[in-house]
Amino acid sequence: MEPEIRDYSDADLSGVLRLWLECFPEVRSLIVFREMIDRKLATQPGPFLVAISAEGSVVGTVVGGMDGLNGWIYLVGVNQAFRRAGLGTRLVRAMEQRLHEVGAAFVCLQVENGRDQIVNFYHSMGYRIQPRISMVKMLQEDRPEIGQENGEGS
Ligand SMILES: CC(C)(COP(=O)(O)OP(=O)(O)OC[C@H]1O[C@@H](n2cnc3c(N)ncnc32)[C@H](O)[C@@H]1OP(=O)(O)O)[C@@H](O)C(=O)NCCC(=O)NCCS
Repeated sequence: MEPEIRDYSDADLSGVLRLWLECFPEVRSLIVFREMIDRKLATQPGPFLVAISAEGSVVGTVVGGMDGLNGWIYLVGVNQAFRRAGLGTRLVRAMEQRLHEVGAAFVCLQVENGRDQIVNFYHSMGYRIQPRISMVKMLQEDRPEIGQENGEGS
């Protein structure tokens, strides 16, 4: 049976954190993941979708954002055992639908340099590369650099 895609609820927290530890080793911090979820829910409660297996486990996620013009897609992750079966595509499509419903003209996302397989994944759904330089500035000096802090087990 195909995993069901539905909105995130508080009961999914531990399953989402477990999945993200597997899917995003470059972050690999429960503290950072937990903070991401708290901030997301506090500032814009949705769209945040999870995929639930027949056994009831969280096996996929996608987080969306809407900045008033464009929609953004973050944290697309699928459990290893469920990959290459179309679940990632279903999650992104479901998020596109949600972002379209709230008026997004475009859907944007970022992929780290050199991750050609991920680029291929998005390319298969119609995403195209725009030649841009992505810039960022930290506004919270005490915030740990992602990848440097290790909050596992906390
Ligand atoms: C990227 C990810 C979400 C894809 O999930 P998935 O469920 O396997 O994706 P799909 O089955 O829908 O794949 C659709 C198509 O994308 C492409 N694709 C997906 N994974 C790929 C890979 N590892 N290498 C090359 N192409 C890939 C293929 O064209 C695939 O179609 P095919 O299986 O018929 O060849 C999953 O690999 C993952 O969780 N990766 C770790 C987290 C991550 O890096 N997320 C991206 C953050 S920007």
